[in-house]
Amino acid sequence: MRPLYFDYNATTPTHPQVMEAMLPYFNEHFGNPGCTHSYGLSAQKAMQKARQQVADLINASFEEIIFTSGATESNNLVLQGLLEPGDELIVSAIEHPAILNPARALVRKGIDLKIIPVDHNGLIKLDVLKESCTEKTKLISIMLANNEVGTIQPLKEITSWAREKNILVHTDAAQATGKIPVDVQDLGADFLTIAGHKFYAPKGVGALFIRKEINLKPILYGGGQEKGLRPGTENIPYLVALGQACALAQNDLDQEIKRQKELGEIFLSGLKNLDIDFILHGQNAPRLPNTMSIGFKNLRAGDVISGLISYEVAVSAGAACHSSGEKELSYVLKAMNVNEDYGQGTIRFSWGRMTTKEDVHELLSRLKIVFKSLA
Ligand SMILES: Cc1ncc(COP(=O)(O)O)c(C=O)c1O
Repeated sequence: MRPLYFDYNATTPTHPQVMEAMLPYFNEHFGNPGCTHSYGLSAQKAMQKARQQVADLINASFEEIIFTSGATESNNLVLQGLLEPGDELIVSAIEHPAILNPARALVRKGIDLKIIPVDHNGLIKLDVLKESCTEKTKLISIMLANNEVGTIQPLKEITSWAREKNILVHTDAAQATGKIPVDVQDLGADFLTIAGHKFYAPKGVGALFIRKEINLKPILYGGGQEKGLRPGTENIPYLVALGQACALAQNDLDQEIKRQKELGEIFLSGLKNLDIDFILHGQNAPRLPNTMSIGFKNLRAGDVISGLISYEVAVSAGAACHSSGEKELSYVLKAMNVNEDYGQGTIRFSWGRMTTKEDVHELLSRLKIVFKSLA
């Protein structure tokens, strides 16, 4: 049976063009960019090109991009590098653990944390956000698109309001970059997190956009690489890969968005024909073109996933399994106040560049068999 991969939000395969671009930097051009000989210079040149490719994708300038090991590090660098005891940090209730956990760790260091609720569609409650800010609020960190349900937050509204109050805004755009237009000038964000493996670069590489006039403290100390903000010899093959992934995304973004939306429409209408009771979480919010979080009524996500695994389909659950064996709704679905009957049977389907219409039809046929076996 042909395997079907519908878990692109977990990670993507490395694109052949990305592989091709990065491979020579493992051996042929293996130099350290800190060296002034020809080996070093060729690595430097590759790094500059990659930095420009990242900057171009998000409409930033070259100097505003710092390479990191991924979204977790970029998020930590902003939070830990900016906030001091006595400052206040505001985040949403549906942030990834790569924001929520560093935020909680900062509380132990004397930073005040406020967590803002979301509505039934997974959109931040803007009125609560605004009311919660005080003169101590230094940073608002709100993800651009949610990894589980794919809802896109009204970031522009947040940044234009925050700017008037002199509050900085960070956005974790790990799930948005490469999937929807991300323009830091238009969004108005002061910091933006990028994760390579969510859009066809390898795992373990990412970037952080830091608006020009803003200073951060490093969280690691060492050599002076990345303006001292991210010391350590640069991983040139992976930086080249990230740059190439950005160029790839920029090349056909509109086309891919259209294609991926169509795949979603085929999937949704196919599901309706399966005669099964379900809801699409966040259906009234702007959402990523590649993500649908579906709650199947009175089913358990674990049962559906086990069934799908036996038919070679890879998806993720929206409910986390705890050690007691009890199934609990994920914190994201809980924050969205999703009805338990649908929440327990929530599956995240996410697709990408390599997904075809045939794959979606095949997914629907396999789902039909699994649902029959669970009836
Ligand atoms: C929104 C978001 N932020 C951060 C991360 C963490 O990314 P990484 O594990 O690559 O550091 C993820 C990964 O799933 C994510 O979806």
